[in-house]
Amino acid sequence: MTSLTTTPRVPIPANGVDYRGKIVLAPMVRSGELPSRLTALKYGADLVWGPETIDRALAGATRRVNPRNGCIEYTRLPSNGGRTEAAAQESVIYRLDPVREKGKLIFQLGTATPELAVQAAKMVAGDVAGIDVNSGCPKPFSTSGGMGAALLRTPDKLVSILEALVRDVGNPYQIGISVKIRILEKPEITEALVSRLVKTGITGLTVHCRTPPMRPRERAIRDQLRMIRDICHNAGVACLMNGDVTSRDQALALMEEFGVDGAMIATSAETNPSCFQSEADGGLLPFRDVVHAYLKFCIESENRFGNTKYLLNVMIPGKNKEFRDAKGSKNYADFCHILRFDDLMPAALKVDEILNLKGKSIFFEETRNKAVQNAIENNETARAAGGASRPKSSSPATSGVGPIRTNSIPAPTKSKPETNEANLEIPETASQSSQKQEVAA
Ligand SMILES: Cc1cc2nc3c(=O)[nH]c(=O)nc-3n(C[C@H](O)[C@H](O)[C@H](O)COP(=O)(O)O)c2cc1C
Repeated sequence: MTSLTTTPRVPIPANGVDYRGKIVLAPMVRSGELPSRLTALKYGADLVWGPETIDRALAGATRRVNPRNGCIEYTRLPSNGGRTEAAAQESVIYRLDPVREKGKLIFQLGTATPELAVQAAKMVAGDVAGIDVNSGCPKPFSTSGGMGAALLRTPDKLVSILEALVRDVGNPYQIGISVKIRILEKPEITEALVSRLVKTGITGLTVHCRTPPMRPRERAIRDQLRMIRDICHNAGVACLMNGDVTSRDQALALMEEFGVDGAMIATSAETNPSCFQSEADGGLLPFRDVVHAYLKFCIESENRFGNTKYLLNVMIPGKNKEFRDAKGSKNYADFCHILRFDDLMPAALKVDEILNLKGKSIFFEETRNKAVQNAIENNETARAAGGASRPKSSSPATSGVGPIRTNSIPAPTKSKPETNEANLEIPETASQSSQKQEVAA
């Protein structure tokens, strides 16, 4: 008599998604906002993880639909910090596209308590395909709150968080719950941990193949991967690998080599999201193409300009002159002007108005400075001639026209540090202020 052995599989809930066979965008604070996720999807990412968001930040947020683009935005007032209520402005702590991300977005939670995790996860459960718990960030701001990699050392707590999420969010909302961990120094400790995690009802587990103290530049260690895969597979949980995966083709080869179900890409996708495109489909594209696609999504989704600028700095090679100039941009129209993305200009002008960036153009400053200089010179000439002078009424400075001059490209003026949207320094969102996230969770 032959015994039929069937591979167990934790059932994938009706509104959830199976991680098997997927090459996915990693969760990345700052670098994983909506436009980056849409760019990754455009180039072939199968699923996208949003940036880690702390439970407390989300729990007090308000959900609204942006009437201009249909995006769902979770907003909240920043903690007062001594300012008057009048000065406080709602900030968007999470934004998603219910159409283009439908069935593909995994929301990552930073948490250290089951109750808060559940409370926060319920806020977004109806809008996402899954909730993932960050159990890998090694930075003190995360671990000191008992979150991130600290959870690797408190397995009872991590297990209770995952069980609560499966019971109170995953089941009622019919979405998957998953976890992202790092490997631990000793394989037997990793083994003991993973053996417990896979019994919580999770549908997927991602392992970042670095130990908590390892820095991003250190090469990923893959010698525990097969062991972790086996534990996951025996429990019917999908296993994704992460760490030094750089492209779709390499991901497929690694999945084959290590027998894992999928692969997650972070830094390579941050620099050039077309890494999700296989060689057969065109492979890695020149950054100009990718920047165009990214900027288009930024404009469409009304992405915070400081965040756009931050990621463009990551995507644009430092030596390119045109792109170096673009880094001085103070609004979306500046970017489109310098980069000659004329097709994006009308929408850029509109979004600059919406985000109150209209008057901040570097070209506006340049034009205004020239107008002032002209006025002074005219005055002096007039005085010398014994007459009066009037500023030209058509001057862009006085007419208020003029973020953009399309006939020539003046050199961008040096931008002084400011505390506004146009500054590269990104104002913290409600979630970020409590997270102080870093790039190597
Ligand atoms: C900018 C940046 C932000 C990150 N933020 C998160 C995060 O929010 N949550 C998380 O679990 N990991 C985060 N990470 C870690 C990545 O998800 C990933 O595990 C790590 O970079 C290793 O993948 P890689 O070798 O492909 O870069 C972040 C990494 C980067 C570069």
